[in-house]
Amino acid sequence: MSVYEFAKGLIIEAGNNVKKIMKEDINIETKSNPNDLVTNVDKATEAYIVENVNKTYPNHSIIGEEGHGHDITNVEGITWVVDPIDGTLNFVHQQENFAISIGIFQDGQPYAGFVYDVMNDVLYHAKRGEGAFENEQPLPQIEATQLHRSIIGINPNWLTKPKLGEMFKPIVESARSSRAYGSAALEIVAVATGKLAAYMTPRLQPWDFAGGVIILNEVNGKASNLKGGDLSIYQANSVVIANPSLHEELMQQHFSKHQSTINLLHERLNN
Ligand code: IPD
Ligand code: CA
Ligand code: CA
Repeated sequence: MSVYEFAKGLIIEAGNNVKKIMKEDINIETKSNPNDLVTNVDKATEAYIVENVNKTYPNHSIIGEEGHGHDITNVEGITWVVDPIDGTLNFVHQQENFAISIGIFQDGQPYAGFVYDVMNDVLYHAKRGEGAFENEQPLPQIEATQLHRSIIGINPNWLTKPKLGEMFKPIVESARSSRAYGSAALEIVAVATGKLAAYMTPRLQPWDFAGGVIILNEVNGKASNLKGGDLSIYQANSVVIANPSLHEELMQQHFSKHQSTINLLHERLNN
């Protein structure tokens, strides 16, 4: 069995476990602040994925949100980047609209991406160079859009921050409309399926975007940081994701005018 087929089976089994455990009890703890939550289900899901990958592929490295491999900086070999529950606040408050996300990299290059929308039982997946799929349905290449005809994904909390608000508000005003799903992984695959034309945020961790961006690449989506540079899987990034023409419009008409805000943001990203 290939690593791709193994990962596909594993993420679905992990999702089935989530459905089982959440019927029993969800224990909630806070992390960095009262709105930064983690549950027993996040921890159990990461442990389940790590244990199974280690058993089958003892040489693979794993970076997981809930504590595994945060010191890894070596690109050699195979690295799994895992978010056991992306959209924990949705998981806690809504018991839906969350995903398990896995990105697999070979010598630092994308190999395969998986985003599993657990409650809807929809698996988005892609192997580099072989196209992207929604369950077994191939996804078409995404279409070009202009901002004024686009629905974009952005968390409204960013609009309340003075400098970031100055940068993001004109984008929201120019767009046809905006949405916030509360799961970066689901927002990125929404761009890959054409449901959103773009998704942007000043700060994401590698596990939030690794799986989704590999899927997005296969349908000709463009992902970069707010300076237009590549995303790193070893540190926090600012992120803008869109169809290529909208990505260019956003960079040229909007983000290029806010270089000092973006530079300051990047200085603070990993502190
Ligand atoms: C969060 C979600 C959310 C995004 C945050 C992430 P988590 O991940 O993806 O949509 O706005 O930046 O931290 O904590 O639910 O895994
Ligand atoms: Ca996440
Ligand atoms: Ca998470």
